[in-house]
Amino acid sequence: MRAIRGEILYFTGDPAGGSADALRHFADGLLIVRDGRVAEAGPAEALLAKLPADARIEDRRGRLIVPGFVDTHIHFAQTDIIASPGGQLLEWLARYTWPAERRFADPDHAAAVAGFFCDELLRNGTTTAAVFPTVHRVSVEALFGAALQRRMRVIAGKVLMDRNCPDFLRESAEDGDAGSRALIARWHGRDRLQYAVTPRFAATSTPQQMRLAGRLLAEHPGIHLQSHLAENRAEVAWIRELYPEARSYLDVYERFGQLGPRSVFAHCVWLDDTDRGRMAATGAAMSFCPTSNLFLGSGLFDLAQADAAGVRVGIGTDVGAGTSFSMLQTLGEAYKVLQLNGQSLSAERAFYLATLGGARSLYLDDRIGTFLPGREADFVVLDTAATPLLARRSAACGTLAERLFVLMMLGDDRAVAETWVMGEPAWRRP
Ligand code: GUN
Ligand code: ZN
Repeated sequence: MRAIRGEILYFTGDPAGGSADALRHFADGLLIVRDGRVAEAGPAEALLAKLPADARIEDRRGRLIVPGFVDTHIHFAQTDIIASPGGQLLEWLARYTWPAERRFADPDHAAAVAGFFCDELLRNGTTTAAVFPTVHRVSVEALFGAALQRRMRVIAGKVLMDRNCPDFLRESAEDGDAGSRALIARWHGRDRLQYAVTPRFAATSTPQQMRLAGRLLAEHPGIHLQSHLAENRAEVAWIRELYPEARSYLDVYERFGQLGPRSVFAHCVWLDDTDRGRMAATGAAMSFCPTSNLFLGSGLFDLAQADAAGVRVGIGTDVGAGTSFSMLQTLGEAYKVLQLNGQSLSAERAFYLATLGGARSLYLDDRIGTFLPGREADFVVLDTAATPLLARRSAACGTLAERLFVLMMLGDDRAVAETWVMGEPAWRRP
């Protein structure tokens, strides 16, 4: 048994949902961990009295402890092309992504990048992520292997592409299906790893591959599906040409049995109300990727409409089109995207989206995203005085909401003092 003392913040519901009890905050709190799981979180004074005499107490007073961040969309194979300039989505994919992903046929390269990538997530306080590798089986093996070593919660699967991409990344629909099945058998459910059927997007799969992907999902209850949806206007027009029979881009996925609980779609910028209604009704989730949408000039995510439809929403960094691994920075950019759309994002809602909201969109809220008893003890120790400016600005804050807002606007990896996974230290700022 272990206990961490500090300021504690977590959510039990969506603070935008009107529940007064959604946010739990203890200025002097204690998080008690037993066998890697949360035993209890609450006020230090009351809980200290109940602790056995030999319990180890880590004193982090002055720091803010929140559940580990959940990144609902990121590409590990694009780590080395983050910050590559020029062009919107389709040009950017051809210019940077295809050559970068080609290198993941090499297991040594894949393993080296996977290790760096997982460490970078931890350095930024991210303990759970839904990740795109490449079409290569070895890229998935490398990622799952690196995550397993660090006991991180990772959802991933072999990228499926059988058209509209270079031949060095293309394989037949049948080979993609067979490769996916082998990986599911080997990795799904191992420690904290979960498989996601991963058709890259409808443009790079033939109807046959889309059909097989839907079948794979149907045959494996409990696995995820991840893809891209309605990110960029030229992309949407292209999908209309490729699938003239579909009502919309989303409808393509639905026709092939890919829409349902545990389906996560990145971007969701260019949707209509019917699409949002279908996503809500089927239990699918949107991954809002603000830095990517700004970087590629894709468009502005509409959180108000997603909320009105009742769709699950999480936050994605979408590295390498996204420009930061930091969920704090990504929340700051989410705020700015919504400002451009005439909407707002409270700091409480933002921290909810980065933790429990992400967990809910991945159907993992019974395991992570909050400090309710029994949840896996993944957490981040944040330093709200990490830089001279953060320290100065935070000192002037009167309320928790103000401090959280300052943290998401000015904070980044420097504000992450420690990251803990399953109740054990996984990273500590030097
Ligand atoms: N759509 C299809 N593939 C990709 C990708 O790798 N990045 C982004 N941002 N969008 C995509
Ligand atoms: Zn993406």
